[in-house]
Amino acid sequence: NSPPSLANLLLDWYDRSHRVLPWRITPPMAKAGKRPDPYHIWLSEVMLQQTTVQAVKAYFAKFLDLWPTVGDLAAAETEDVMKAWAGLGYYARARNLKKCAEAVASLHGGRFPETEEGLKALPGIGDYTAAAIAAIAFNRQSAVLDGNVERVISRLYRVETPVPAARPDMRRLVAAITPADRPGDFAQAMMDLGATICTPRRPVCALCPINADCRAFKAGDPERFPVKLAK
Ligand code: ADE
Repeated sequence: NSPPSLANLLLDWYDRSHRVLPWRITPPMAKAGKRPDPYHIWLSEVMLQQTTVQAVKAYFAKFLDLWPTVGDLAAAETEDVMKAWAGLGYYARARNLKKCAEAVASLHGGRFPETEEGLKALPGIGDYTAAAIAAIAFNRQSAVLDGNVERVISRLYRVETPVPAARPDMRRLVAAITPADRPGDFAQAMMDLGATICTPRRPVCALCPINADCRAFKAGDPERFPVKLAK
């Protein structure tokens, strides 16, 4: 009987404490083999890049209402997509969204590629989004590193290198703890932990399921991480 791994502790916490989100498949369904629609995961991840979860919910619902499939979005008028996007900001994202939908429809028969490499070849999909879609939609063991995960990782290992220079190291650290059996839930659990417990200010370490593995918790200085480059 070995002690539970960091991933198992985090997944047990996620089973109990996951946020319920419109694009998300809950852990019991995911364990039963149900995967979310890749179109939903892609759309939500692009919307979430510079916008809060709370603000994204209504836009996500509106887009699915107007364009239920990636093929519908590909066939939409760009002007209508821009109008529906109004308020989310960063309009280059909306243009890329439309271009990406067109590429998925015309080059891939309306199905998203399942690998990070294939996803990254699409307009507007970078390292983070490709890894997130591969993990969450296709249950691939990819290393998902967004701002929330960076904070968790930098504290777990007390990463002294400032971001963004530390990102390649942090990506390797995430890869090393990402489990083969539930990589999608693991990625979402890391995001939820960063959003609700391992917060930028006053993290609630007493409630953290992996505090026994956390070097910054042990040292008593979690708020010092992630280290930022002095301006
Ligand atoms: N922020 C970005 N992607 C997210 C996701 N899949 N779940 C929760 N928060 C997120």
